[in-house]
Amino acid sequence: MVNIYPPAPTGSAQGTQQPGVQEFGRPTQWRRERYRDGVFSHELDTEWERLQLLESVLDHHTISRLRALGVGPSTRCLEIGGGAGSVARWMAEQGARTTVTDLDTRFVDGLAADGVEVLRHDAYVDDFPAGSFDVIHCRYVLVHLPDQEQVISRIASWLAPHGVLVVEEPAFFPIENAPHPAYRKVMLAFRRHLERVVGTDTAWARALPVPLEGGGLVDVGFDARLQLIAGGDAEAEWWRLTLEQTRAAIVAEGTVQDHDFDEAYAELRSPAFHDVSLAVFTAWGRRPGQ
Ligand SMILES: C[S@@+](CC[C@H](N)C(=O)[O-])C[C@H]1O[C@@H](n2cnc3c(N)ncnc32)[C@H](O)[C@@H]1O
Repeated sequence: MVNIYPPAPTGSAQGTQQPGVQEFGRPTQWRRERYRDGVFSHELDTEWERLQLLESVLDHHTISRLRALGVGPSTRCLEIGGGAGSVARWMAEQGARTTVTDLDTRFVDGLAADGVEVLRHDAYVDDFPAGSFDVIHCRYVLVHLPDQEQVISRIASWLAPHGVLVVEEPAFFPIENAPHPAYRKVMLAFRRHLERVVGTDTAWARALPVPLEGGGLVDVGFDARLQLIAGGDAEAEWWRLTLEQTRAAIVAEGTVQDHDFDEAYAELRSPAFHDVSLAVFTAWGRRPGQ
């Protein structure tokens, strides 16, 4: 795999300050800086590694789904919220005419050298012309946005006739009754933090595939699975880095302490640790022909 990071520094993105974001409870209006500049900021030292770990546990499923739906030479592909860029890179390797977007493109800027179009683009507010793409893929992005149904309808309009949208999003519920006490305690605090501060909806993915049908797509398919986690594996390390990035903010909220995090990390490293992690819901559908 070609390591495309670190690229040249990018300029600062334009944030949209909107009124009406609640201090508590899930925000109803989008402020991209909640994600872009917060606990998942691409500025953070461990974010690049965290995103690569995520790719390492998800790409296998994503690529077999995209292969089955058809990505090949001259397919016009869009990867939304490309993160560290492995899916966009794979699309380009198939010969697809690939566009990748993100709020912060620093980890994917290097893909431009392989002919990938890299755009700083906010899926919540920015658009593409109708009918621009044959395949659009979006993974672990929509849960962080409000009004996902409306966003899916807009994304669906970017598809050419017969084009396919693939959405893969996680839900938190399998972790609610995890049998590892420190891990469960810290993860529940993490979920509250994410919902309150970033605006993430940790249950929304269960709505799939209905929003694709609501977005006018046909031939809708659906799949769901549980991510597995074992002491010291990539999923466990992804969670450890994720928790560590939020640790100071969560401890400051006062519901869990530093020692709870240390105990959770010990559990996540233990050879005896085996569990299920997030539930991942995948849905896909085609835009009807004209
Ligand atoms: C959890 S990461 C997932 C990255 C990648 N999709 C993956 O699954 O490996 C979410 C990514 O979506 C980007 N993102 C979040 N909100 C976005 C938005 N409104 N528009 C475009 N990208 C967004 C983030 O900057 C981040 O790179």
